[in-house]
Amino acid sequence: MQGKKQMSELVAFGSRHIGRGIARMSEIAWERGEGSWMHSADGKKYLDFTCGIGVTNLGHCHPKITKAAQHQCGQVVHAQCNVGYHGPQLQLMEKLLPVMPHKSLDTFLFVNSGSEAVESAIKLARHSTKKQNVVVMQGGFHGRTIATASMTRSKTIYSAGFGPMMSGVFTTPFPYEYHYNLSRAAQGNKSDDACADEALWQLRLLLKQQTAPSDTAAIILEPVLGEGGYVPAPKKYMQGLRKICDEHKILLIIDEVQSGFGRTGTYFAIEQYDVRPDILVMAKGIANGFPLAGIVSRKEIMDSQTPGSMGGTYSGNAVACAAAVACADVMREEKILQNVKARGDQMRAGLERIRKDSNVGPLIGDVRGLGLMLGLEFARTAPTGISSRVQQNCIRNGLLILTTSVFETLRFIPPLTISDEEMSHGLEIFEKSLHEAATM
Ligand SMILES: Cc1ncc(COP(=O)(O)O)c(C=O)c1O
Repeated sequence: MQGKKQMSELVAFGSRHIGRGIARMSEIAWERGEGSWMHSADGKKYLDFTCGIGVTNLGHCHPKITKAAQHQCGQVVHAQCNVGYHGPQLQLMEKLLPVMPHKSLDTFLFVNSGSEAVESAIKLARHSTKKQNVVVMQGGFHGRTIATASMTRSKTIYSAGFGPMMSGVFTTPFPYEYHYNLSRAAQGNKSDDACADEALWQLRLLLKQQTAPSDTAAIILEPVLGEGGYVPAPKKYMQGLRKICDEHKILLIIDEVQSGFGRTGTYFAIEQYDVRPDILVMAKGIANGFPLAGIVSRKEIMDSQTPGSMGGTYSGNAVACAAAVACADVMREEKILQNVKARGDQMRAGLERIRKDSNVGPLIGDVRGLGLMLGLEFARTAPTGISSRVQQNCIRNGLLILTTSVFETLRFIPPLTISDEEMSHGLEIFEKSLHEAATM
């Protein structure tokens, strides 16, 4: 599998036989991953600031997680959830219960992907409230299945041409301070709180004008918009949502598929808001790359469901659960949250320093995010396509990085295990790549 020629053959074969619906940021064939690094088939190594879109949070092939999965492969791979319980799933719930953002979240359902988990949350909300409509956020992303694409507002590509979409979905503005201020520059800047007030007012209007509370089952949002640009919700907004949900018996669904499992510096981002979710959606970092996702809610809500109405063939796969148990141990043993704090501060300081550089600083409009989930949005005055150009320069220079949203934005999602030196190295590559783009 080594050698440049072989890599080009692999890539040609892949591009011929993989459908175009899958986008790719590079034409690289990967051979292996180790910690913060990805190794290509032609022998190059790349620092991975994508983590497979926020999945391999504990680094590629973490030895403890690999060992746990290998062991489980020799015990039982598929102990189907309708047939009985299996050890790894029971152990996983034991590990997750103490880290839930609220003690009322005590009853689980495991599935295979984030979209499936979001769909499960919507089924649960509709069934338990006996109401149909769902309110989603402008810029929100919840997946690519028909139901979750119907609830996605980060880009039109997820729904264009796929209709009819699921009905009963209503969109409310997300308080996005940087954008509010761009569109209102003439009227002066608005604070985070003022943006939150305005967005809450819009939501109250929506509930009066478009979807009556008596028809509205749930409001769903990501605490930090992921595909919508790495934008954290203001605390005042999140708390206002909780209040509106309580007033109208609407369930608050928090989608932590991308922000969960330490990414933002707390186990779940919602902990930073002092807000109780009714349903929490989890995936990605839960098992460091093994396909596992889930929802958790109050027992009385979860037990309102008819046996057999939820789940699926592979729900809560034993190998994926064993990997997730090991992830929970690594989170604790390696003090991952402490590292997120230190490396998150380092990354933010690095990006802010680059922003002060008189050559490239004016290209940068906004640096935002929580923990190791940071977004950098280019200024409106920066050339169109700048984010993709910087991304491609980074790849050429040995750093994998993703764009996000319909705006010129890069997102930084390094492994939560990243070292001080690796972070400095990644920032250096980013800075060099930005300078190269500025002089192109
Ligand atoms: C917040 C959020 N929800 C849901 C999903 C869908 O997850 P999946 O791609 O596993 O179906 C994603 C995926 O990126 C996500 O970021």
